[in-house]
Amino acid sequence: MKINAKPRICFATPVLEGELTGVEELNKGLTQLFFSLEKEGYRNLTRINTTQGDIYDSPGDLFSLTHYPEIAEIKQHMNGVLTSWILETGKMTRAELSQLHFEIESWFHITRYGGTKTLHDHGQCSWSMIYYVDAGDPPPPEFPRSGFLQIYDPRRIQMNPYDKGFSNFKPTFDYGGFSVAPYSGKFVVFPGYLQHEVLTYFGNKPRIMIAINCLIRERT
Ligand SMILES: [Fe+2]
Repeated sequence: MKINAKPRICFATPVLEGELTGVEELNKGLTQLFFSLEKEGYRNLTRINTTQGDIYDSPGDLFSLTHYPEIAEIKQHMNGVLTSWILETGKMTRAELSQLHFEIESWFHITRYGGTKTLHDHGQCSWSMIYYVDAGDPPPPEFPRSGFLQIYDPRRIQMNPYDKGFSNFKPTFDYGGFSVAPYSGKFVVFPGYLQHEVLTYFGNKPRIMIAINCLIRERT
């Protein structure tokens, strides 16, 4: 008797983590611009109930403000990251992708001491992205995941604590959730269906990030 079998990797989750390097000047420019936009009152007037504590929330049309060279530049970088990831994970050609329309919602957050973003997803769109302009202060020892992004697998597998059959999976098969430690220049791309939250930030330096949601559709 012989057993023939091979693993079938299925339902893998296309998450991309990376960083932009050599962008110190760009991040400085974005920081100054965002502080001045905040002062001018460029603000999201609808307080979203997942935004808790001291978080400044811009309107969702940030990437339309391309008359600011810093916005035009970061938009171009993030578009490049997303396009490459779609081409790598999918079967579309670059020419086919270029025929489609990217409908983008984008905004920035300035998070100050105590700011929290509670659990949510962006299931209305295929791709979500986060870019850290300034990660702020590192976590204090008593809150080692201050300001971390937590991403969770939506398959809510009921774990019987006595059942060790799923324990210690290799990363390919793991499920549950993982933490992303922010640093300036870092980005994360993930499917909008993944639930995520930002743990309470216990730093004094304002922490600045850009969030992007993108749905991609036929041109009309
Ligand atoms: Fe989000």
